[in-house]
Amino acid sequence: MQHGPASHLSVNRSRLGHKVRYALRHPERVVPYLRRAGRDSWLRLRHRGSHVAYYRAVMASDTARSPEAAVGGGPSYDRWLAIGRMQYDYLVGHGLTPRDRMLEIGCGNLRAGWRFIEYLEPGHYYGIDISPDILIEAKKTLVRYGLQAKRPYLTPVDDLKLDFLPDAWFTVVHAHSVFSHSPADVIDECLAHVGRVLAPGGFFDFTFDRTEGAEHHVLGEDFYYRTETLTRLAAKHGLVARFMDDWEQLPHGQSKIRVSHPAADPDRDDEWPSRPAAAADVPAVEP
Ligand SMILES: C[S@@+](CC[C@H](N)C(=O)[O-])C[C@H]1O[C@@H](n2cnc3c(N)ncnc32)[C@H](O)[C@@H]1O
Repeated sequence: MQHGPASHLSVNRSRLGHKVRYALRHPERVVPYLRRAGRDSWLRLRHRGSHVAYYRAVMASDTARSPEAAVGGGPSYDRWLAIGRMQYDYLVGHGLTPRDRMLEIGCGNLRAGWRFIEYLEPGHYYGIDISPDILIEAKKTLVRYGLQAKRPYLTPVDDLKLDFLPDAWFTVVHAHSVFSHSPADVIDECLAHVGRVLAPGGFFDFTFDRTEGAEHHVLGEDFYYRTETLTRLAAKHGLVARFMDDWEQLPHGQSKIRVSHPAADPDRDDEWPSRPAAAADVPAVEP
């Protein structure tokens, strides 16, 4: 069952009427919104034709102001910790083990990533992001939490072809609050390639801003999709998608979909039954 008040799920935030009503309810947000709209128009003009280049510039500007705010949830460090913890607890609750091999798409400044890195075996975490600025902040997070010995990989990317990563390697792929900032062609590219790097029995969890009305975007920064659109896109690339009802119970505005190869039956109760690729990584005799 999908939850959420109907008004929240059907509202079209790109409509003038919605903007006016919102401004009347939150007059203090009008000036910051206009400033953001002005900056975004200029950045869109400069990076015409490339969403990734545009969004990278948005991230550079936001990161310079506050790395915590740049990854969402406002400038509060407590909020940064809480949203990271929510992502971590969810996956551990779904059976994440230290032997899993994780690819985090749009890892940001490791809001959740530092927890995954701390938990996973050394070398089992790969983080990629389009923003070099936020990856520099990610490096600072690694140092702050003393995670050098975990040897995580952090790589800047300019597309989601994942072509530098090995076949059938990752047991868990994770993208939190990334598709909520992505046009359909970026999501399509990701879904076209993620199946290749996903281990048998592995899965790809991503969050998205859900609408049950017309799909729309605000300032080319926030994108709202219907669940069926993303499910269909996954199917187009031979993947099975499942809406994660239990994520809806958490205090987070986005919804979550889990994508896997069709062989891994997403309706099984015993989640992550065997994940042979992760097990195969363990040497017969521990060195
Ligand atoms: C809202 S932040 C969330 C970061 C992190 N997942 C978290 O939960 O803290 C979105 C991140 O995704 C990155 N991003 C946006 N589009 C991307 C894309 N097409 N490929 C890779 N990273 C992307 C941004 O640079 C940013 O770091």
